[in-house]
Parts: sequence; C-alpha cells; structure tokens
Amino acid sequence: MNKVCFVGGGNMANAMLSGLRRQLPTLSCHVIEPFALARERLASLGVTVHESACREAVQGADAVVLAVKPQVLREACAALRPHLTGELIVSIAAGARIASIARWLGADSGAARIVRTMPNTPALIGQGITGLYAPEALAEADVATATALMRSTGAVVRVADEAMIDAVTAVSGSGPAYVFHWIESMLAAAKGVGFDDADARTLVLATLKGATALAEASDETPAVLRERVTSKGGTTAAALAVIEARGVREALIDAVRAARDRGAELGAASDGD
Ligand SMILES: NC(=O)c1ccc[n+]([C@@H]2O[C@H](COP(=O)([O-])OP(=O)(O)OC[C@H]3O[C@@H](n4cnc5c(N)ncnc54)[C@H](OP(=O)(O)O)[C@@H]3O)[C@@H](O)[C@H]2O)c1
Repeated sequence: MNKVCFVGGGNMANAMLSGLRRQLPTLSCHVIEPFALARERLASLGVTVHESACREAVQGADAVVLAVKPQVLREACAALRPHLTGELIVSIAAGARIASIARWLGADSGAARIVRTMPNTPALIGQGITGLYAPEALAEADVATATALMRSTGAVVRVADEAMIDAVTAVSGSGPAYVFHWIESMLAAAKGVGFDDADARTLVLATLKGATALAEASDETPAVLRERVTSKGGTTAAALAVIEARGVREALIDAVRAARDRGAELGAASDGD
C-alpha cells in the first residue's frame, strides 16, 4: 500500500492514521477535512490535507476511506464523485449500505469497488474489532487492502453477507456500551458493599481484564470457566442464582436482537435517500 485518502479527519480517521503510520511509515496519507483546526492538527502530523474533495487527494490512492458521520455521507460522496476514477472505497460509516454509497458516488453498485466495514470505539486505542463485508465479485487484492487498513485499529472479522453487518453492529459495534453498562453496575455494586470509588474501580476493571484474558488464553468454554469458580452452595452460586432469576442472559440476547433489527431499519431508511 502506497497511498490512502480519508474523507473526514475525525476520531476514526485519526485512530486509523496513527495505526497505519506506525505500521507503514512511508505511506502517503491524504485527508479531506473541511474544519480548519482539524486540518492544522493533521498537517502537523505530516498528513497532506485538503479543504474539499479534489483529484490530487484521491489520485493513485490504494483506497479512499469514507470516515464521515452517516448524516453527511451522502453530501461527502456527492463532492467526491467527480474526482473518482474507480478507486477502491472503504466505508466505515454506520448504517449506509453499499448500494446507497454506490448510488451517491454515481457508480454502478455491481461494478463499483466498495467495501463496508463496522469498527468499534476501542479502535481509538488500537484495540478495536471490525466487521468487514466485501461483495463476492470484488478482487481478493481489494479485500486484502481493506483488511490491512482496518487492522490499523485492531482485529478484523469478514462476514459473507451485507445484512450481517447489522449483526456485527449489534454485537461489537454497540458492544462496548453493554460492557460499560456492566462496569457501571458492578461499580455501584462494589460501592454498595462498602468500597470507595478508587478501590471499586480497581477491583472491577482488574476483574474484567483478568477474566477476559483468562477466557482468551483458555481452551475451555466460558461456561466451563464459570462452573470452575462456582462451588455448590458457595458465594458465586448465590450470585449467579440471582443473575439467572433476573433473566440477565435473556435480556442480553433480546438486546442484541433489538440492536440488529434497529440497524436494519436505519439502513433501509437510508436506502430511500
Ligand atoms: N467512533 C467510532 O468508534 C465508530 C465506530 C463505528 C463506526 N463509526 C463510524 O465512523 C464514521 C466516523 O466517525 P468519527 O467518530 O470519526 O466521526 P467524527 O469524529 O465526527 O469525524 C467525522 C469528520 O468528518 C468531517 N466531515 C464532515 N463533513 C465532511 C465532508 N462533507 N467532507 C469531508 N469531511 C467531512 C468532520 O468535520 P467537521 O468536524 O467539520 O464536521 C469530522 O472531522 C461515522 O460514520 C461513524 O458512524 C465510528
């Protein structure tokens, strides 16, 4: 990869740029960003900045990354359209379908080289997970370029069907919010049994980190790991009985379904634009 162009120089573009520049120090990075202060900051990092879409920004780019908020994606595509000559497009915008992006770019969606991805907020610290969908007809070299780009912010999982991007959104895109909700609840619980803020934070975050690392390192399923710390009639069993009785597992399953269905609804609404 020699050159990449970002449309939008916000949080996600910055996260990707810092990862990419670490991995590929000679990569030529261009960013189209209308906000002057953001341009100044990017220019100070050695990125070539453009106030608006132009041929110079996209010419020879291995990929053009759509990294604007979904509300302005259509307008950003319209501005980009006259300057494109069939470059690979990688969208990180939530909700917008490939067919819509192709239409806004004035490209035939069958022939257009468009990859749709869904990263999540830990991307901002290089620990994200991205769901990636590439149409079957797309060349493997394009899929490899898009995958390498998204790896700048963490791991990548490829899905075989565009509708599965709504499922990715529901599991890992919105997932950090579910985890933050769990952390909030555990902090309240720790304070409820007598810890101050600082100790509650240490205990809860270290538990989450340690248990996650153990689940990742172990060949056992989470169910087996859970059973191992749950002796009959013991303290963990008392806690899990409450969690099961309150239907926490079912609530999470329903929550992920609701997020997936909402994603599909929002995508369908943007198709009408
Ligand atoms: N943050 C995440 O973890 C995350 C996760 C999953 C998906 N995403 C998706 O990633 C995309 C980017 O998110 P973000 O958090 O990086 O947003 P952001 O920080 O708001 O960045 C968007 C940037 O695009 C610029 N922009 C606005 N209109 C433009 C135009 N017409 N042409 C070029 N640039 C334009 C904005 O400039 P101004 O400041 O001047 O408006 C802003 O700097 C969104 O679609 C979001 O849904 C983000």
